[in-house]
Amino acid sequence: MAGALVGGAFLSSFLQVAFDRLASPEVLDYLKGKKPVDRLLRKLKMELISARVVLNDAEEKQYTNPDVKEWLDELKDAAYDADDILDRIAFEALRCKLEAESQTGTNKVCPFSTSELQEMLDRFKDITENMNVLGLKEVAGGGGGVALPSSRLTTSCPEKRVYGRDEDKEVIFKMLQSNDVGGDEICVVPIVGMGGIGKTTLARFLYNDNLVNETFDLKAWVYVSENFDSFKILKTILEGVTKKTSDIQSLDLLQSKIRDALKGKKLFLILDNVWNENYNDWEELLNVFKCGAQKIKIIVTTRNENVASKVCTTPTQHHHLKELSNDECWVLFAQHAFGNRESCEFPHLEAIGKKIVQKCRGLPLTIKTIGGSLRSNLDLTHWEKILKNHLWDLPEAKSNILPALRLSYYYLPSHLKRCFAYCSIFPKNMN
Ligand SMILES: Nc1ncnc2c1ncn2[C@@H]1O[C@H](COP(=O)(O)OP(=O)(O)O)[C@@H](O)[C@H]1O
Ligand SMILES: [Mg+2]
Repeated sequence: MAGALVGGAFLSSFLQVAFDRLASPEVLDYLKGKKPVDRLLRKLKMELISARVVLNDAEEKQYTNPDVKEWLDELKDAAYDADDILDRIAFEALRCKLEAESQTGTNKVCPFSTSELQEMLDRFKDITENMNVLGLKEVAGGGGGVALPSSRLTTSCPEKRVYGRDEDKEVIFKMLQSNDVGGDEICVVPIVGMGGIGKTTLARFLYNDNLVNETFDLKAWVYVSENFDSFKILKTILEGVTKKTSDIQSLDLLQSKIRDALKGKKLFLILDNVWNENYNDWEELLNVFKCGAQKIKIIVTTRNENVASKVCTTPTQHHHLKELSNDECWVLFAQHAFGNRESCEFPHLEAIGKKIVQKCRGLPLTIKTIGGSLRSNLDLTHWEKILKNHLWDLPEAKSNILPALRLSYYYLPSHLKRCFAYCSIFPKNMN
């Protein structure tokens, strides 16, 4: 799934880069004297725009419709090739500009041909035609820019299975219920733990639980991140509970709409990835909910202990998320490394796989990443090389990157490394 997300991120960022390239002064200048190329590129741009419009819809549907997944893969492949041609065009445009400035002429062979462009255009035409056949359409938040629909990516449970969190779920439900006795209108329970330990996954697990669906009238999920923007948070809550997009600009109006929507209702709210330690901001946010709602239960996920102490309703009620046990780690690893096949089908890899898992120190993100990267190479020598790699032992503080993540990046083929470069322009809400 993470791969699918990275793929989606790549496509959006590729399209943005492609449009920027086509609009650069050098390329525009260069195209002035080249009608056929200019015409083909304009057509190509229109095809890319059509594909971009349905990207969000396709990214969501790929999980349930294999044809859409295949369509996205084809679009991704074509995007790589288009990226290559556009790169060469931009290079040629720059070369011509520099030559014109220095008034030298080297008569180099043009690094691309119109027939190549025509072929690329035909390929994209097929892709956009199929997108109509698949019934892909524009959805709110579409357009494929940097602002990906974080709430849609995060609320459903993309994990095939959530391991070892049943007890955590029960403990948290108990904490939420124990506050009912005191008659508190608003109850906040923070889930605290380091990055990659599974806070968001646990929150999703709770959010999708039947008990929540049966107990609460309304649910909302907000990905908060470092930038604690109260207006944005409230707007996402309103959109979540009304299930409609909103273009409200005024804070007053927003607050009153939320109050109307919550009156007499029970709300289950997740605020994912909160960093803000400012108590006043938090109080102001909660004030909006003091509005005659029957019950409001809020789960906050955070890496920061201070945030947890500031937001929790009862000082003892933080939920510290622990690492997964060895056995849980192993099944999670096997799921990602061996896919649908059983680990016992690979007896020569079991012992070494278990040693690799131990190096992951119970962190699901690490296990999933390293398991996923080993999946493409089920060869004992390769696994031994990974186990012995010195990158495991580099202190985390030096690079601020978990060793396994660094390691899995290191072994990626170069075209995938490029994806990461594109991904780095995205906001931090991709799991
Ligand atoms: N209990 C679990 N079972 C299976 N996969 C998990 C579990 N916890 C986390 N993961 C996987 O590990 C990754 C990181 O988890 P996440 O919840 O995003 O961590 P955090 O929010 O603490 O940074 C996710 O891709 C998720 O799919
Ligand atoms: Mg998270």
